[in-house]
Amino acid sequence: MTRFSVLLFTFLCALAASSPVFPAFFRLPGTRSQSRPIAGDSPLMQCDADEKQVLDIQLVNLFPNPPVRGENVTVSAAVSSKDTIVAGAYVDVEVRLGYIKLLSQTYDLCEELENNDIDGLKCPIQAGDYKIDKTVEIPQEVPPGKYTVLARAFTEDDEEITCVSGDIYFPAY
Ligand SMILES: *[C@@H]1O[C@H](CO)[C@@H](O)[C@H](O)[C@H]1NC(C)=O
Repeated sequence: MTRFSVLLFTFLCALAASSPVFPAFFRLPGTRSQSRPIAGDSPLMQCDADEKQVLDIQLVNLFPNPPVRGENVTVSAAVSSKDTIVAGAYVDVEVRLGYIKLLSQTYDLCEELENNDIDGLKCPIQAGDYKIDKTVEIPQEVPPGKYTVLARAFTEDDEEITCVSGDIYFPAY
């Protein structure tokens, strides 16, 4: 498991669990600085790329990429955390559908990990390398359209853990 994946999942799961939206993925409204593509097969970008971040996201693969409504999507990630991440860490998530803001919410990172099993990952998350895999089903009921997601995570001390953004298009068929 990896910090980042955790975030990713955390926010995916949080979205899937708590809102009619979902695993939309990312792009970048409101990013502060540079973004760069994350290695692997996914639409994800690392945002705030010229800022110091606790988590180094080495690889993210989505299968299938892009995800499909009514089907499972598996996210595999490899990340490396430079520090231990403890209770109090949080994730700000913003999701847009086209120009409409569907969600703008802050989640408790450790709580989300407790509530959404991600390879058993729990806080405190020790510094080190993690690989995680998580499969989630994307409901057929997800409205078609272009989703843009921005997730930015911070430690309890407001140090940036990671910033991930991206977008995904669900066709109407
Ligand atoms: C998604 O995966 C779960 C667990 O493997 C499986 O039970 C479910 O049927 C799958 N859903 C779809 C739409 O393939």
